[in-house]
Amino acid sequence: MIRVLFNKKGGVGKSSLTVNLAAIAANNGLKTLIIDLDTQCNSTQYLDLLQENQENTIFELFDQTISFHIKRKDTFEFCHKTQQPNLFIIPGSCNLAELESKLDSRHKIYKLRESLQQLKPHFDRIYIDTPPALNFYTLSALIGADSCIIPIDCDDFSRQGLYSLQLEIEEIKQDHNEKLKIEGIIANQFMAQAKLPLQIIDELKKEQFYVLNTFIPQSIKMKESHQKKKPLINYAPKHKLTQALVALHQELEAQ
Ligand SMILES: Nc1ncnc2c1ncn2[C@@H]1O[C@H](COP(=O)(O)OP(=O)(O)OP(=O)(O)O)[C@@H](O)[C@H]1O
Ligand SMILES: [Mg+2]
Repeated sequence: MIRVLFNKKGGVGKSSLTVNLAAIAANNGLKTLIIDLDTQCNSTQYLDLLQENQENTIFELFDQTISFHIKRKDTFEFCHKTQQPNLFIIPGSCNLAELESKLDSRHKIYKLRESLQQLKPHFDRIYIDTPPALNFYTLSALIGADSCIIPIDCDDFSRQGLYSLQLEIEEIKQDHNEKLKIEGIIANQFMAQAKLPLQIIDELKKEQFYVLNTFIPQSIKMKESHQKKKPLINYAPKHKLTQALVALHQELEAQ
C-alpha cells in the first residue's frame, strides 16, 4: 500500500502526519518506508537523518535517471534505516529543486513509479511526504501511489483549496493512474472547544467530501516531538494526540 499525504496548502500537517502514521505502522510490526519529496526535508529532520554529505538521498535516486555517466545504484541502497525497528526512509534533499526542470523536460514523470514498483513487494507500507505544491515530484508520487490522503487544518482557506485539489487529483487519475483513490481528508489541528472547525467539517461532509472520523487535536506535544526528533508513538505513547494518531491509523487500515 502506497500512500501520499498531499495538500497544496502549506503547514497543514503533511510531514507531521506522514512520520507519525508511518512510525505507528512500524510499531505495529509493518515494514514501513517513508519517502521525503520535499526540499524542506522535514520528515528527514524529524527522524534525525539529515546528513551533511547527503549520500543516497532522493536527489541521487532521481539524478541517476538522467545522468548516465554515474554508476547506477540499486533502489534499495536509498532506503536508510531509522532508530525505530521496521521504519526506513529515503531522505529528502534541498537540492531536489535544481533537478526539477531537467527531469520534466526529459519526461521522467514515470520514474518514481518504476522505483515504487520495485520497492512495493519489500515493504508493507510506503508513505510519501510531499511539498505544498503540485509540482513534478508531487505529480510523480500521485502517479505511482495507491492512495492520496489530504490533511487540512480546519480553516476556510483549506476548505476553499479542496475544490481545485479534488479536480486536479481526478484529472491525474484519468490521465495517469486509474487506481488512485482519495482515501480521505484528515482534520488536523482540530480544536474541539471552538465552533468553526466542526462547522467547516460539517460543510465538507454535506458537499460529499470524505472526512475521516478521527480528528487530530492541536497539541504542543507535536512540536515537542519534532524537537526531540522522535515520533509520538515513541516520545509520548499515552498522550491524547498519540492516541488520536493511533486511532487514525486504525481507521485507515480498516478501510
Ligand atoms: N496536531 C498538531 N498539533 C499542533 N501542531 C501541529 C499539529 N500538526 C502540525 N502542527 C504544526 O504545524 C506546523 C506545520 O506542520 P507540518 O510541517 O507537519 O505541515 P506540512 O503540511 O508538512 O507543512 P509544509 O507544507 O511546509 O510541508 C508545524 O509547526 C507543526 O508542529
Ligand atoms: Mg512538510
